[in-house]
Amino acid sequence: MSTDKKGFFTLTYGCQMNERDSETLAGFLQDMGYVATEDAEEAAIFLVNSCCVRESAERKILGKIGELRKYKMADPGVIIAVGGCMAQQPHMVEKLRNSYPYVDLIFGTHNLHRLPQMLTECLQSGERVIDVWTTEGEIHEDLPARQANGLKAHVTIMYGCNNFCSYCIVPYVRGRERSRLPGDVIAEITALAVQGVQEVTLLGQNVNSYGKDLENPLSFADLLRQVGQVEGIKRVRFMTSHPKDVEPELIAAMAEVPALCPHIHLPVQAGSDRILRAMNRYYTRQDYLLLLGRLRAAVPHLAVTTDIIVGFPGETDEDFADTLDLVRKAQFDHAFTFLYSKRSGTPAAELPEQIDGETKRNRFQQLLALQNEISLAINQRLLGQVVDVLVEGRSKNDATRLTGRTGSNKIVVFPGDDQLIGQTVAVKINEVRTWTLLGEQLAK
Ligand code: 5AD
Ligand code: SF4
Repeated sequence: MSTDKKGFFTLTYGCQMNERDSETLAGFLQDMGYVATEDAEEAAIFLVNSCCVRESAERKILGKIGELRKYKMADPGVIIAVGGCMAQQPHMVEKLRNSYPYVDLIFGTHNLHRLPQMLTECLQSGERVIDVWTTEGEIHEDLPARQANGLKAHVTIMYGCNNFCSYCIVPYVRGRERSRLPGDVIAEITALAVQGVQEVTLLGQNVNSYGKDLENPLSFADLLRQVGQVEGIKRVRFMTSHPKDVEPELIAAMAEVPALCPHIHLPVQAGSDRILRAMNRYYTRQDYLLLLGRLRAAVPHLAVTTDIIVGFPGETDEDFADTLDLVRKAQFDHAFTFLYSKRSGTPAAELPEQIDGETKRNRFQQLLALQNEISLAINQRLLGQVVDVLVEGRSKNDATRLTGRTGSNKIVVFPGDDQLIGQTVAVKINEVRTWTLLGEQLAK
């Protein structure tokens, strides 16, 4: 059975690594003659690239897969494919196999590169294809050519994670750390620059350990220095950094390489030493605060963002007070805050003293209120200042204004003409909010 439709509809959940993987998957489908669509009625293929970092993500994704059933019922030739992190877990494969019989193709994180073959098999046999590899293979560089989409691009520099933080499912579904060869990374970025990309964000679960697994090891700092020299690339960002692996060499590179943005995403996760130990993070709150001091001394106007989990098993009121205290001392520009979510297969899921939902939500609200206050106060210091903004396009909320970001990754909105898009302009800030800065362009 087949359908006359030629569209593919992608649903991507989770982190930027997944966003980037979805671009690759889309490239495969385009090479096969399909066309991206945002109209579900036009879709011959629904591609769900899933996440499993928290239970809430899984619930949402399963709900969405349930909604896709109607398209399959209306047109049995439609293919529903579910891949990525959620589908990498054996119990989820069973669930999808048994409770979602209309899902035609299930694949994991290690065989994304085989999408064309798996899809062809599905179409030719008319049977379900379930293909989830238990171990990671080689890195595949023979992926569809990249289509730059605008001024900014994400570039994955390494896959997997070796850290096994006790709450985290990622090492189980994405395997061990594997670095791409520096030559492949630089070639990809050079090609993006030729297509007009000015800003790249290097991605990995823990970019600080980039290169350690290579036959000819190269440090992350040295990779950054190389990326900083690619012609046309004006801004380089990276995420995510594990605090235990931030080496002096990286701090020096941040201070010395002009293209490196003054921003670091440095997840602290908790402010209590007892909880940090139970999380398997290998640093103390003091180590973290000292590291921040070193970074800020080396990089003027450095913006720091973080991730924090509340309600890790056994977290007492005192532990949580330590987190609030650390947040006050660290003065983050922004924090991504999460309720601890029990992930089966991780050590923390087995711990006694799981925290009840109400306590978690209560702590979450307190943390959010504190962080919002700090974010606003930090932004207020920018009132009257002039910042450099790489202009990305028209503001979605107000078509008379342009939007862009500072090197420190803050969103700036200001009135201006389309011809400024793609340029870096000086903007004077005259109003600030928790998330956004408002201003006007300085006359040249
Ligand atoms: N529960 C809640 N948050 C989690 N994270 C990872 N695992 C969990 C979990 N089980 C958060 C961490 C990480 C971010 C990407 O997601 O803060 O840095
Ligand atoms: Fe998960 Fe820790 Fe690895 Fe980040 S460093 S992906 S939190 S195990």
